[in-house]
Amino acid sequence: MSTSIRAPLRLAILISGRGSNMEAIAVACRENRIAARVSVVIADRPEAAGVPLARTMGITAHVIPWSGAADRSAFELALGECIDACRPDLLILAGFMRVLSGGFVERYAGRLLNIHPSLLPAYRGLHTHRRVLQAGDPWHGASVHFVTAELDGGPVILQSRVPVLRGDTEASLSARVLESEHSIYPRAIGWVADGRLTWSAGRVLLDGQPLDTPVVENFGELQHD
Ligand code: GRF
Repeated sequence: MSTSIRAPLRLAILISGRGSNMEAIAVACRENRIAARVSVVIADRPEAAGVPLARTMGITAHVIPWSGAADRSAFELALGECIDACRPDLLILAGFMRVLSGGFVERYAGRLLNIHPSLLPAYRGLHTHRRVLQAGDPWHGASVHFVTAELDGGPVILQSRVPVLRGDTEASLSARVLESEHSIYPRAIGWVADGRLTWSAGRVLLDGQPLDTPVVENFGELQHD
């Protein structure tokens, strides 16, 4: 499948929690900074704070409760029906904490984006801020990537590089990274909406050129002792 372009792009956003990336994307749409519209927000947890937040913004939000790994196929069936009813062009994972099956990912190949709070391929998985602090890395950041069946392993499009500052805690570092996420996620979606970023048969092109390494944007200066 290849990315189909039709402006404004219709987005379905999947969340599990507070939904701050969802909000940043919805605001970028509303302010016409990107040629896209959020058609639906879907959460896997009834208590996800992003659900009332989306509704406050006038966005349709549904909850499809996750009831355990044993029921993953039933969950994905309901999720797929809910997504397809909105005919989205792009499916956006924004703090969605469920691992989707290979079959599900394949169904939306080339139309499925995620944001991960690390400079992929470094620090796949959870607790990235803690692991960066423990390793003493000078830089951290976030990555927008196409989703493939490999967890946090799809082609990376755009990264924010955020310096780790003296005295940083997990909370201060994650807040700084999150702020950068709110900038890069709408930007990458805007590239798809403008037809600049495409995926065809597993190949990512930006402005017609193969995107072999991600675009990197610095958010701050490296701190020297
Ligand atoms: C973000 O840090 C994102 O990178 C990760 O989960 C968090 C979601 O935050 N995948 P929010 O729900 O968008 O506020």
